[in-house]
Amino acid sequence: MKNISQIVELKIELRQFADLSVGFVPTMGALHQGHISLIERAKKENDIVVVSVFLNPTQFDNKNDLTNYPSSLKDDIVILEKLNVDYLFTPSYGEMYPDDFTYKIEETSFSKKLCGKSRKGHFSGMLTVVMKLLNIIKPVRAYFGEKDRQQLLLIRGMVDAFFMDIKIVASPTVRESNGLAMSSRNRRLSSDDKKNADLFPVLLKSKKSDSEIIDELNKSGFRTDYVETLDGIRYGAVFLSNIRLIDNVEI
Ligand code: PAF
Repeated sequence: MKNISQIVELKIELRQFADLSVGFVPTMGALHQGHISLIERAKKENDIVVVSVFLNPTQFDNKNDLTNYPSSLKDDIVILEKLNVDYLFTPSYGEMYPDDFTYKIEETSFSKKLCGKSRKGHFSGMLTVVMKLLNIIKPVRAYFGEKDRQQLLLIRGMVDAFFMDIKIVASPTVRESNGLAMSSRNRRLSSDDKKNADLFPVLLKSKKSDSEIIDELNKSGFRTDYVETLDGIRYGAVFLSNIRLIDNVEI
């Protein structure tokens, strides 16, 4: 695996694969089984696989969340090498944002709902970095997890709106044995919180109404940001000891 941090260098490398299919898995590092399942799928469906590890500061509305976001590049590299990833892209902020984020992608409708209500600017930062990464790598396919379904739908919308010839592939949420959706943030949960977190997916899947679920979560030690059903999907975001967890289920 080649680890490249310069855009020019990566573009020159990828030029040789113009006739092959390049699959791309963007990440913010602290890799877990959810990322691994995306990468394994990308390996099966493409000739060349590029994974990026870039902790994108512009999608964090809260400085503490960014500072405390887990990072484990050395372990990530071991995982990526085992998976036979061809290229790891690890750019710096300066490399990705020569304009210092004066240019941004803004979606004005769905991005204002659900997570967008409480995380101001989050989706604009996320869409901007994904657009930049897709423009640099120009993959045939890019892979995203259904755990972040609002993110996935917004990226699909952006790719359609800007006529980008990239297939956005969605992979099912990978869960811990207790049903908790895998997330890099889970590493920060205490073992007690991790055990108690299983109630979150159980309630989302239940027959109760959104407001009944909010009441029950709040009574059980969670601080609920929202539980909302849209187009047959129940979305939820909660805090457990200040760690934000999101999930969604088809109902
Ligand atoms: O889902 C993530 O890890 C991030 O939002 C992404 C897509 C890598 C953009 O920074």
